[in-house]
Amino acid sequence: MTVLEQEKTVLDASSARMETIFPTYLVTHHWPNVDGLDARLCAYAKAEMARTDGLCSTTTNVGGWHSPKSLGTSSNPDIQALLRRFESLVFETTARTASPDNAKRLETRIDMWCNVNGIQDYNEPHIHRDCTWVGVYYAEVPEDTGPDPRAGALEVFDPRPAAALVPTPGMEFDLTRLVVPQPGLMVLFPSWLTHMVHPFRTQGRRISFASNIKARLA
Ligand SMILES: [Fe+2]
Repeated sequence: MTVLEQEKTVLDASSARMETIFPTYLVTHHWPNVDGLDARLCAYAKAEMARTDGLCSTTTNVGGWHSPKSLGTSSNPDIQALLRRFESLVFETTARTASPDNAKRLETRIDMWCNVNGIQDYNEPHIHRDCTWVGVYYAEVPEDTGPDPRAGALEVFDPRPAAALVPTPGMEFDLTRLVVPQPGLMVLFPSWLTHMVHPFRTQGRRISFASNIKARLA
């Protein structure tokens, strides 16, 4: 066998092992609207907005209203039910990413608040500091947000934007993922993941509940 023929057999790399490292999780779950929970959560958010005369501090929001982040301390049973749903999704995520046994040792602390966005309101790109996960639950969305798929959507950005500076065949970086809100949808993602909320330009209202979730294993 010539050297060239020997090299042809050596050059077969089809058995190379490939693995994906440094995964980023985006978790979505649709909860059932048990006994009209969403309507009661919306009523709660509207009452809170009325109680504060629609005034709120500005964080990442441009327009819109958000409550203080202490909603989790409310004894309102619907708010507590929503807290349990956030906890359950973090438990499920931990069970899958760590292990079911580890998840049993999970301790969480949740700061929760509600957001009411109307026409043209949006949130600038941001991260959430000093927590593990960000959770969002949608209780009400406009029936029609028009033809733009981004209208009212949550957009999550690839945390590796610099990788796009060097083209890599077969791999794309600097991508984004749109999450279109629906009543009953809960979303969970790492707190360091940059995200924003797009405005919608039709009539209607978007009521969501957001949470900063600290998670640790006891
Ligand atoms: Fe956010």
